[in-house]
Amino acid sequence: MTVHFIGAGPGAPDLITLRGRDLIAACPVCLYAGSLVPEGVLAHCPPGARIINTAPLSLDEIISEIAAAHAAGQDVARLHSGDLSVWSAMGEQVRRLRALDIPYDVTPGVPSFAAAAATLGAELTLPGVVQSVILTRTSGRATAMPPGETLENFARTGAVLAVHLSVHVLDRVIADLTPHYGADCPVAVVWRASWPDQHVVRATLGSLQTTIAPGMERTALILVGRSLGETDFDESRLYAGDYDRRYRPVGATPRFPEAQ
Ligand SMILES: C[S@@+](CC[C@H](N)C(=O)[O-])C[C@H]1O[C@@H](n2cnc3c(N)ncnc32)[C@H](O)[C@@H]1O
Repeated sequence: MTVHFIGAGPGAPDLITLRGRDLIAACPVCLYAGSLVPEGVLAHCPPGARIINTAPLSLDEIISEIAAAHAAGQDVARLHSGDLSVWSAMGEQVRRLRALDIPYDVTPGVPSFAAAAATLGAELTLPGVVQSVILTRTSGRATAMPPGETLENFARTGAVLAVHLSVHVLDRVIADLTPHYGADCPVAVVWRASWPDQHVVRATLGSLQTTIAPGMERTALILVGRSLGETDFDESRLYAGDYDRRYRPVGATPRFPEAQ
């Protein structure tokens, strides 16, 4: 018996890996984080599967469900939104499973920052403009930020910031970032990227209307950085005609002759 942690993606039910889909189809028990995991993904569960929404459950209750499946020799598909490496609460579940000697594995998913960038049709890292993306959040009721992990500190790097779990404090995010990025720095707020009702607002830090429409206080990503909407950037050297590389040797004495 194995607990399969599966990244269920950002919203669109077809934004899940083939491995994730096949594991769901093979598990007689499915636990899903109902606040964000799209119901459409559950259509992959086999007929008769025990399907449990864990949104109203405590960690103890979730582990009890898994332990019961383990005792019955039943594999479990454990679904969380996006990818499991960020803000999934997988860490605490895995720690309990290790203590109980219950095997598990992890199948990655499409993270929301990637879905938001796709919605914008944008590459976040542009040569000569920005080469780093920082995934971060602000303090919430349940989770405080460790000292040092402040928006101001991250802003000093000039990287693109993908600020999660913070649209309800949009005004504060903008106020914290503006002194570092400048009022003319582009910002995009992407609500429910890849869902049918996704919504995008593009502006600058100085012009963004920070009043949030009812129903849009959650499930949005704030992207801030100079690469958003930028057209004046260098072309990647990798594809330059004169760039000598392993897969496209150039000149009489190529750098990687063994590749020929
Ligand atoms: C608990 S975190 C989950 C993050 C998830 N594990 C991931 O890989 O993106 C929830 C936050 O992720 C962001 N988020 C999740 N799905 C999103 C979507 N479809 N569009 C925009 N933001 C999303 C929002 O900032 C939301 O508050």
